[in-house]
Amino acid sequence: MKDSNHIATNLIHGGDKVGGDASKALNPPIYMTSTFTFDSIEHADEVMSFGSDDYVYTRGNNPTLRLFEQRMSVLEKGSASIAFASGMAAISSTLLALASPGDTILIHKTLYGSSFTLATQLLPKWGIGSETVDLREIESVKKILAEKQVTAIYFETPVNPDLAIIDIALISRLAHEHGAKVVVDNTFASPYLQNPLTLGADVVLHSTTKYICGHGDALGGVVTTKDEELATTIKFGYMCELGGVMSPFNAWLMIRGLKTLHLRMQQHCSNAMKAALFLENHPKVSKVHYPGLPNHLGHELCSRQTRGYGGIISFEVAGDKTAAIRCIDNFSMAKIAVSLGDCETLVQMPAAMTHRGYDAEHLKEFGLTESMIRLSIGIEDIEDILADIERALEVV
Ligand SMILES: Cc1ncc(COP(=O)(O)O)c(C=O)c1O
Repeated sequence: MKDSNHIATNLIHGGDKVGGDASKALNPPIYMTSTFTFDSIEHADEVMSFGSDDYVYTRGNNPTLRLFEQRMSVLEKGSASIAFASGMAAISSTLLALASPGDTILIHKTLYGSSFTLATQLLPKWGIGSETVDLREIESVKKILAEKQVTAIYFETPVNPDLAIIDIALISRLAHEHGAKVVVDNTFASPYLQNPLTLGADVVLHSTTKYICGHGDALGGVVTTKDEELATTIKFGYMCELGGVMSPFNAWLMIRGLKTLHLRMQQHCSNAMKAALFLENHPKVSKVHYPGLPNHLGHELCSRQTRGYGGIISFEVAGDKTAAIRCIDNFSMAKIAVSLGDCETLVQMPAAMTHRGYDAEHLKEFGLTESMIRLSIGIEDIEDILADIERALEVV
């Protein structure tokens, strides 16, 4: 079937060129096989030299993975995708593929904790440097681009956990003037709300563990680009060698999760907007970070570059770390957990949990306070979510 102009249809049918199953099953089979067989050595040679689309070994490709990858290419408006075992597998292979010893990767000052550790501690061991900057401060970005051999700019938008918004089009334009590639982690927005490739980014990636899976039951990652040569390098030069391939079973769960992404995102966004307004007017809350609020620094930019404000809110209680801990411990329906994008509302404390890899100095410098609480707003009834927040704040 031809791909549609409508995302709701593409979430269910997009990119389905793998070929129907002989049984005519509505849903794709899960190809739980490690390897694939050949008719002859000649056939093996043809496939292994990329002379055909047949399969060799699941670490290189598999029909269930291919269907998921093709669907993601349609949804992110790219032409090639690569499925990984986790978001971090996707990020590490991509950054390694883009940078060589002596190069610099420019990162936004705040990233998901493990991404920050990868860029600032692991990559330097292989001679790949990283520069940390606030990508909203354009003069500083220009200065680094002029001074360093920047090979890639890497950021999330909205940013985990402070929901800052970065201008994808502007950063892409500046990067391209200096020959650097732009890699955007689109996990918080999902392809339903934002398509970085259409704004000029070179690579978009996701932790599919989050909204794409949507049910908190599988890890995964995916990279999408329009640059097919780069996709081949990431896949056959890094993913295959480093080994972080997605399991066919998880690919099947991702395909299943995508079918309802639009409905879930609409509910996440609507619930989060109401929760953000509730928190903003609450006397025991000193600050709310949610790009849907008109007074959020990135509100206008987010309104332009995304189709909604997402399901994540961070807020600070009017009090110290002890008050924030008392608040978190007093949630009842929302569970204390890392991860996000699930049907359930989850609550966590970035400084103590997802971002504990940052040292105390950086946490302070980057505004990740000890009293910051991050909520991944679920798709439960909003009245129950608000009642739970109210109950939690009572003890502050
Ligand atoms: C924005 C973002 N990117 C990447 C990751 C890493 O993904 P994974 O846990 O699937 O490796 C996370 C995990 O929380 C995240 O929040």
